[in-house]
Amino acid sequence: MSYLDDRADLAGRVAVIVGGGGGLGRACAIDLGGAGMRLALCDRDGASLGETAKLVEDAGGEVITGELDARDPDALTAFFGDADARYGPTCDVVINVVGGTFRQPFEESNPRGWDALIRTNFTWLLHSTQLAMARMRPHGGSIINITSIEAHRAAPGFAVYAAMKAAVTSLTRTLAVELAPDKIRVNTIAPDYILTPALNTLTEGLSEEVVALQHRIGTPMGRVGNFEDAGGCALFLASNLSSFVTGSTLHPDGGAIASAGWFNWPDEGFMNNPPQHIIEYLLGR
Ligand SMILES: NC(=O)c1ccc[n+]([C@@H]2O[C@H](COP(=O)([O-])OP(=O)(O)OC[C@H]3O[C@@H](n4cnc5c(N)ncnc54)[C@H](O)[C@@H]3O)[C@@H](O)[C@H]2O)c1
Repeated sequence: MSYLDDRADLAGRVAVIVGGGGGLGRACAIDLGGAGMRLALCDRDGASLGETAKLVEDAGGEVITGELDARDPDALTAFFGDADARYGPTCDVVINVVGGTFRQPFEESNPRGWDALIRTNFTWLLHSTQLAMARMRPHGGSIINITSIEAHRAAPGFAVYAAMKAAVTSLTRTLAVELAPDKIRVNTIAPDYILTPALNTLTEGLSEEVVALQHRIGTPMGRVGNFEDAGGCALFLASNLSSFVTGSTLHPDGGAIASAGWFNWPDEGFMNNPPQHIIEYLLGR
């Protein structure tokens, strides 16, 4: 065992990933499976679940899967039961991934839409967290909630989604304290733009050159995030390397939240307003 493997202490431990089929769930599954964790993945998309399980198994990992909608409490309870049956009645890590949104001015939204966003981004996570706690109490564990950069700033057009991600951040802090005596750590990962199929829809119809320039200007590190950027955060929070970290947030965002409105313009460098030539162009000069 290498020095890092020894310090991380992940091999053989059990991780449940809710939303572990595609996107960031797959990113976490590949990295935790690669570190030797035994996995239980559930997702409503059976095809991507199967693909992720195969990726994990082909790399020598152990995995069970459950096709379900995380918003269905009975299905989620049954899935945690399946994980118990396979790996025993305790688990070490639970990653809550499921979430999503759509752009809509708040004025045009309605109670039905609010309810959908609240159920998709918050309610199921309460249930998953309770199921996780019960299985971690005997020995401790790590609960990792995937939130968003939008939990930490204004998000015009995404008001309820951002509010729910902020709610998860608040819940995380409170539970980190409530559960600290039980050695259960609770943290969030708050990504900005990480290339997943869900995020790809935001740039549909744009050329690669335009998208690259958008990220060159909008993200201080000048690129989009990739699976390893997200998976690395999950590995750290799952592992013993973060054994004294709870109630915290990791920001895999290339510096976006820190930049708070400063853009890296190709000629002018960092400015918190558009450069003069853009203004002149907008004024038609
Ligand atoms: N990708 C990013 O850049 C980014 C940025 C900020 C926040 N996030 C957050 O990260 C999480 C994952 O985002 P993603 O880009 O991977 O999206 P995604 O839509 O690919 O979701 C990941 C997985 O969750 C599954 N899923 C969605 N709803 C489900 C449900 N109700 N029940 C069971 N499974 C369900 C999907 O099938 C998918 O396999 C979300 O909470 C999202 O808000 C992502």
